Amino acid sequence: MAILKEILSKEAVSEIVADLARRVCYDFENKELTVIGILDGAFMFMADLVRKLNLNVRVDFVQLSSYGASTISSGEISFLRKPMYDFVGKNILIVEDIIDTGLTLQYLARYFAENGAGSAKTCVFADKRCCRKVLFEADYVGYVAADRFLVGYGLDYDGQYRHLPGLNELFLDEKLG
Ligand code: IMP
Ligand code: MG
Repeated sequence: MAILKEILSKEAVSEIVADLARRVCYDFENKELTVIGILDGAFMFMADLVRKLNLNVRVDFVQLSSYGASTISSGEISFLRKPMYDFVGKNILIVEDIIDTGLTLQYLARYFAENGAGSAKTCVFADKRCCRKVLFEADYVGYVAADRFLVGYGLDYDGQYRHLPGLNELFLDEKLG
């Protein structure tokens, strides 16, 4: 059995996204921006964020190998889908649901820098700052989270709970006490 505890309501999520969008718009005013969402988790955040960007935007997605039915990262990353559009010389904003160990975003930021992106910034909805395994910080952070397993607003456990509009902490059997 699983129990959910809401930590951010739909309204709180929306305010956080609006604030991130304002910061991105300010920094990229009068510039082109290729926004690259990391599937699957970023789909909801990405959809909300790009609709608030009053900029010349191109939307793209990448997909990386995922955790599967585990709450612990395997640490091994590879592309399941590479970017569709040419990004050489372009300003890129990588959009991710959550940064945890930092391995995913470090891998992607390096990939874009080494393959000729003009600039590569990162934007995360949530940041488990306490859980880094590598020295990497996102450029735009919505919500700083504790070391808990979170679901909703795109975040899943084994494909479940992504559709929930707020952010929730997930308690599985063994964590109930
Ligand atoms: P990182 O490479 O450890 O920073 O992992 C980031 C990825 O791990 C995210 O894209 C999520 O798919 C997944 N992840 C990390 N923490 C959570 C969580 O609390 N809930 C759901 N997915 C998570
Ligand atoms: Mg993910």
